[in-house]
Amino acid sequence: MANRIHAIYPGTFDPPTNGHLDIVRRGLRLFARVTVAVSTHPSKAPLFSFEERRAFFLEEFRGAAGVEVVSFEQELLVGFARRIGAQAIIRGLRAVSDFDYEFQMTLMNRRLDDELETIFLMPSEQYSFISSSLVKEVASLGGDISRLAPPSVCKALAGRLKA
Ligand code: COA
Repeated sequence: MANRIHAIYPGTFDPPTNGHLDIVRRGLRLFARVTVAVSTHPSKAPLFSFEERRAFFLEEFRGAAGVEVVSFEQELLVGFARRIGAQAIIRGLRAVSDFDYEFQMTLMNRRLDDELETIFLMPSEQYSFISSSLVKEVASLGGDISRLAPPSVCKALAGRLKA
């Protein structure tokens, strides 16, 4: 039964955007539990700490049933997913350009653990061009990001970039 499934939604989320929040909400329509798992891709040096990135999600989903926000590092995603009892991995697919990377990651994760299924969800088209890097770039050059990221992120970015 789809509605008993616990899914993990992993990412760097530096910072979370409205596209990421949209994916969590869509995941909640399908799965009983969605665990947002804040991690870091080895090639990225995040602007925000693990705790800050977790706090952005907690602020958005405070009191929402079925959502948890955790972080993990120095561990394989499939191992962490198993440890918390997740049966599925959620990834967002915005455009064809995401496909190659996601395809590789999915097949590698499957090679590592064939029982964890990856499910792709498409964000609303209004968010299909957003990425965390672009949000940071636009904010750093004084552009308006209020429709791209949640208020807590907009505020934190304004403070961080001023500093
Ligand atoms: N809306 C907006 N942006 C989205 C999005 C959506 N719905 N979906 C993806 N993105 C963007 C992100 O903002 C990010 O953009 P950025 O590069 O500008 O920051 C980009 O797409 C992809 O980032 P993300 O989805 O966070 O993935 P990631 O590649 O940074 O993180 C992990 C990948 C953490 C899941 C991966 O590194 C991992 O699994 N690590 C654990 C170690 C492991 O198991 N390695 C083997 C993996 S096969």
